[in-house]
Amino acid sequence: MTQEPRPTRRHLLGYAGAGGLGLVAGGAAGIALGLGEDPATGAEPTVPTTLSPYGPHQPGVTAPTARANRLVALDLRADVDRDALARLMRLWSGTLAALTQGRPAPGDTAPDLAQANTDLTVTVGWGRSLFERTGLVSARPAALAEVPAFTHDRLEERWSGGDLLLMVGAAEDTTVNHALRRLLLDAEPFATQRWEQEGSWRGLDAQQSPHTGRNLFGQVDGTGNLRVDDPLFDPTVWAKTPGWFAGGTTVVVRRIRMDLDLWDTLTRAEQEQAVGRDLAVGAPLTGTAETDVPDLDARDEQGRPVIAANAHVRLSHPTTNGGARILRRGLNYTAYDARTGRREAGLVFCSFQADIDSQFTRIQQRLDQGDALNEWTTAIGSAAFAILPGFTEGGFLGDRLLG
Ligand code: HEM
Repeated sequence: MTQEPRPTRRHLLGYAGAGGLGLVAGGAAGIALGLGEDPATGAEPTVPTTLSPYGPHQPGVTAPTARANRLVALDLRADVDRDALARLMRLWSGTLAALTQGRPAPGDTAPDLAQANTDLTVTVGWGRSLFERTGLVSARPAALAEVPAFTHDRLEERWSGGDLLLMVGAAEDTTVNHALRRLLLDAEPFATQRWEQEGSWRGLDAQQSPHTGRNLFGQVDGTGNLRVDDPLFDPTVWAKTPGWFAGGTTVVVRRIRMDLDLWDTLTRAEQEQAVGRDLAVGAPLTGTAETDVPDLDARDEQGRPVIAANAHVRLSHPTTNGGARILRRGLNYTAYDARTGRREAGLVFCSFQADIDSQFTRIQQRLDQGDALNEWTTAIGSAAFAILPGFTEGGFLGDRLLG
């Protein structure tokens, strides 16, 4: 059964700005990334839809953050060469094209789980090591630089690295799991699973209207992201390399543990100072509405900066980082560790950018040096991937390089 979503002009414009990504069926939910439509301007209700798998970019990059998400990294088997990689990309492209359009994948043993209007997207990436293992180093985009070590990192192997990335998002986890199972079965002759991370996001409010979601500290998170129709969006996100990688991007996936118990010991004012925004609506401490621009020069009566020198928004802001910007997607995770009897919580932090070095790494270096949040957050995993350009019907992911 298909639902009848309510398309809105704003929603469709959001997609046009993202490079003509099409909707297969339905038509709503084409909001700009779930970054928070300004409630004051009246965001309209939305329902899950079906996103076309085809286009210049993989649609998962600009789609609104899904409620249910799983990221899986895989390592290629030793005998996988360029031709075998091409076979895997053909298989995955066929599977994800079918599933995202609500059709069973070839050989699907549970075809009834393939449904339209589930917001399903599958995004595929290649790690630096993949290019080495398949003799493709000369084709490796310069944008996919190695992420350096940072002082506050406490990285664990079990959340780091990988030759391949699958990022699967949908309106609920059953669809995510079905898609992932088909894709992992396809991959079996070619690769083994390295890690899996799960994360959720609440990008819709109780009225099903898009709003900026919250992380597990309770902060409104995602406000500063560019909208897809902002003129700065394309240069921030899409790689500038001509040739086979045109239309691609890069992603850095950081598993960041958040110490909720320690955070709870702070006063509300201390929590707000750490970021430089209030907790109720996410307004900068120099403003009243979420979308007010933070005034980093504002001083109080004693001449002290209203937004503290070490506040997260000051140190991550483009003006502090030579104009560097990223497109952030946070996914909340929790995990119970039966060995310690403790629950761990955090953010699967995904940073998309045209170029890792001059964008993610530049900002992260600044945060590593002085971010107030370092006291309650610790990166325990890190991985980086080139997100392949999109593909057209009849083609496959990476076909400009492997075809
Ligand atoms: C668990 C870790 C983190 C938490 C809890 C967190 C939280 C936040 C919050 C609440 C905001 C303000 C609202 C918004 O604009 O979204 C923000 C902004 C931002 N954060 Fe983070 N963040 C984390 C990690 C990071 C990391 C690792 C980076 C980059 C390397 C980063 C980069 C940014 C940027 C660029 C902004 C927008 C600044 C602006 O333009 O105003 N954040 N973050």
